[in-house]
Amino acid sequence: MAAATKTLAVVPPRASRLAALWRSHVGRKALMAVTGIVLFVFVLVHMLANLQAFQGSALDRYAEQLRVFPVLLWTARGVLLLAAAVHVAAGLDLWVARRKARPVAYRDFDAEGSTAASRTMIWSGLLVLGFVVYHLLDITFGVVNPDFRPGEVLHNVVVSFGRVTAVVFYVAAVIGLGFHLWHGLWSTFQSLGVSNRAFTPGIQKTAAALATLLTVGFAAVPLAVLFGVLG
Ligand code: HEM
Repeated sequence: MAAATKTLAVVPPRASRLAALWRSHVGRKALMAVTGIVLFVFVLVHMLANLQAFQGSALDRYAEQLRVFPVLLWTARGVLLLAAAVHVAAGLDLWVARRKARPVAYRDFDAEGSTAASRTMIWSGLLVLGFVVYHLLDITFGVVNPDFRPGEVLHNVVVSFGRVTAVVFYVAAVIGLGFHLWHGLWSTFQSLGVSNRAFTPGIQKTAAALATLLTVGFAAVPLAVLFGVLG
């Protein structure tokens, strides 16, 4: 009985373990890393799926197949939304905490050791967040799309990218995404404690290569429509 009481006292319930994780700096970094991985898998799959636009109606068929199992689709959407919410909230929280700790920037700030991507994570993150909201209004809900037709995904993409301003915004946003991923992927390894000196150069190169691949892959469709290769 005494042993059982002891066990109950030592192991906190799952909710309070999560709350404790959230309260600690290291815990929030770990939550950011795990949710970042979920979001990264989504963007990688999304980028590869988008390239089906170069095969014409394959993109429409793919979108149709996604809707065959609504429970699966809505579960994936729920996981994605939760991951995005935790990632954004933890990111903002850590940024605010860092600014409170050092409200005045160092006078002779030496950028050595940090990269442009690492210093602008909050801004590239907010750009991507703003982009996702616009993107959903454009392609999913059709509110800002010039000629939205439900279910005709390729058509909706082509009419959207017929506008130079939309293409400029999309390309700027995916460059921002590339910057965010470049540092984000690298720092994920650090937050999860997987990096060490021997692996560092390899991890940095892989992060840069994946970020570039995603940026180029995402920019391909809007640019191809704009330059008349697609549509
Ligand atoms: C720049 C090129 C991109 C193109 C051509 C594109 C295209 C599309 C299309 C066609 C859909 C609707 C699919 C459907 O209705 O079945 C969609 C949905 C979506 N896209 Fe993109 N996308 C791009 C970039 C991005 C990026 C960079 C992100 C995130 C950072 C993103 C996030 C989303 C999300 C969250 C959805 C909603 C998914 C859902 O319905 O559950 N997209 N995109």
